[in-house]
Amino acid sequence: MSAQSQKARAAEAALEYIEDGMIVGLGSGSTAALFVKALGRRCAAGDLSIKGIPTSRETEQIALEAGVPLIPIEQADRIDVAVDGADEVDGGFRLIKGGGGCLLREKIIADAADLMVVLVDETKLVETLGAFPLPVEVDPFGWTITAKKVFDALRRAGVERPLVDIRRQGDRSEPFITDGGHYILDCACGAIEDAYSVDAELLAIPGVVDHGLFIDQARVVIVGEDDDVKVME
Ligand code: 5RP
Repeated sequence: MSAQSQKARAAEAALEYIEDGMIVGLGSGSTAALFVKALGRRCAAGDLSIKGIPTSRETEQIALEAGVPLIPIEQADRIDVAVDGADEVDGGFRLIKGGGGCLLREKIIADAADLMVVLVDETKLVETLGAFPLPVEVDPFGWTITAKKVFDALRRAGVERPLVDIRRQGDRSEPFITDGGHYILDCACGAIEDAYSVDAELLAIPGVVDHGLFIDQARVVIVGEDDDVKVME
């Protein structure tokens, strides 16, 4: 069975965590989109009344088309549940996110949420984070200097040979720009043995806005399998 149907199974299972009246953070990426569409079907059927806050312009569009009622984030001082995908998940529920470039808004919403539920297919489960390049969101001003500092920071945090590369748009000409107007440095690390050090080192660099390591945020991971889902809490 394909990763796509595993993602769809995980997305359906996440509806168990949604109750009437909740404010729901809506993640980004293909798995989160399946959840948003499933949520829209429940809202349209009158089974659920919730308010959603999207983590990206793309998710906002998907939610509007799916019929999920949205509120601006400024109208919420907290969020009940954030439901999102991930690029990698390890056994301690640490994540790499940001493959779609939405990590900053995803982290703001996950951090504001009482509960973060992560949806993945089986391929996203790893023993050690880092095979997927770590996205680091940076201010465009001085990004080449910031990139050098990111390289040094990763070395100090124990990554032996990091490769730091600016993310480019589809046609590879211009840098990719996030919804917040920043650039992304994709950092191939191979293995991240000490996520806490990487977090601290990166956040100490002025040009770094945030990075795609999510530590101590996910409380539930739903893994779509071929004929079932595995819920880890
Ligand atoms: C976007 C993300 C996504 O959640 C992550 O890239 C997973 O995407 P997908 O569900 O398409 O595999 O972090 O910034």
